[in-house]
Amino acid sequence: MTDRPAVLVTRKLPRAVEERLARDYEAHFNRDDRVYPADELVELAAGAFAIMPCHTEKLDAGVIARLPDTVRAICSYSVGYDHIDLAAAKARGIIVTNTPEVLSDATAEVAMLLLLGAARRAFEGERQIRTDTWAEWSAVHQLGVQVTGKRLGILGMGRVGRIMARRARGFDMEIHYYNRHRLAPELEAGATYHESVEALLPHCDFLSIHCPATPETHHLLDEARIALLPDSAVVINTARGAVVDDDALIAALRSGRLFAAGLDVFNNEPNIDPRYRALDNTFLLPHIGSATRETRDAMGFRALDNLDAIVAGREPRDRLA
Ligand code: DGY
Repeated sequence: MTDRPAVLVTRKLPRAVEERLARDYEAHFNRDDRVYPADELVELAAGAFAIMPCHTEKLDAGVIARLPDTVRAICSYSVGYDHIDLAAAKARGIIVTNTPEVLSDATAEVAMLLLLGAARRAFEGERQIRTDTWAEWSAVHQLGVQVTGKRLGILGMGRVGRIMARRARGFDMEIHYYNRHRLAPELEAGATYHESVEALLPHCDFLSIHCPATPETHHLLDEARIALLPDSAVVINTARGAVVDDDALIAALRSGRLFAAGLDVFNNEPNIDPRYRALDNTFLLPHIGSATRETRDAMGFRALDNLDAIVAGREPRDRLA
């Protein structure tokens, strides 16, 4: 027994993060890295001062109500917090934190990878090489859409959206955006603001989604809004699958109304809608936006900084509830 606070770490984390956890806390590690069912998570939380979950653990009102009274903090190893019912945590006096900023660059890198990969049909080309089905160079083989100079619409101009805009300017893209609040001119950096999602969409040769999943953004990109995009637009999503209505997006990709989609996030991960796999005009990644060594360490250290502050009775930097 030690008098160090106990922490339930729900998933395997990078070595440096687990080392710091082991040094400073009585940490319960998840050696198999499997996702705990809710009942097991509640059981494992017995005696814990804090839980360090990932976005894979659904801490809804029912789970939070069943957590032992010892749990005083949920320090999520994620920037997104749609997996945690903040109101329920607040009602129980449980402090909740996330890890903003540290994963913005990595996520924007993947958004740009998806944008380029979807536009230039990278999946089809890769498959031809791997399956040895590349017949011969041809002037009309595998024509994509050019990225340079096109209009990029950014839905949600927060940290990731703004970095994506900067990267896209390197391709001479013209930036348009919708955000709940218009940004100050120095943050807008010449981007054109649109007062509604509907006003933004007709200006998007490419649409990149960077808004959080909330009840307001649930299935925001639905059939009616997809109809507002220009013909042959490309949709990129590195935010959350819940922002997209899969039926509508798949129909638009199948019919060719949209040229392609690049998706790193999905509804019901990892059991995604199988129809995406059957489409050649999708470029799909398994939720790896923040998956660089540097970023995954930084997320852990940020979550731990928050936990350290709470244990010391200080206000954590990234308090959500
Ligand atoms: C986040 O931090 O929200 C990423 O989606 C990974 O969990």
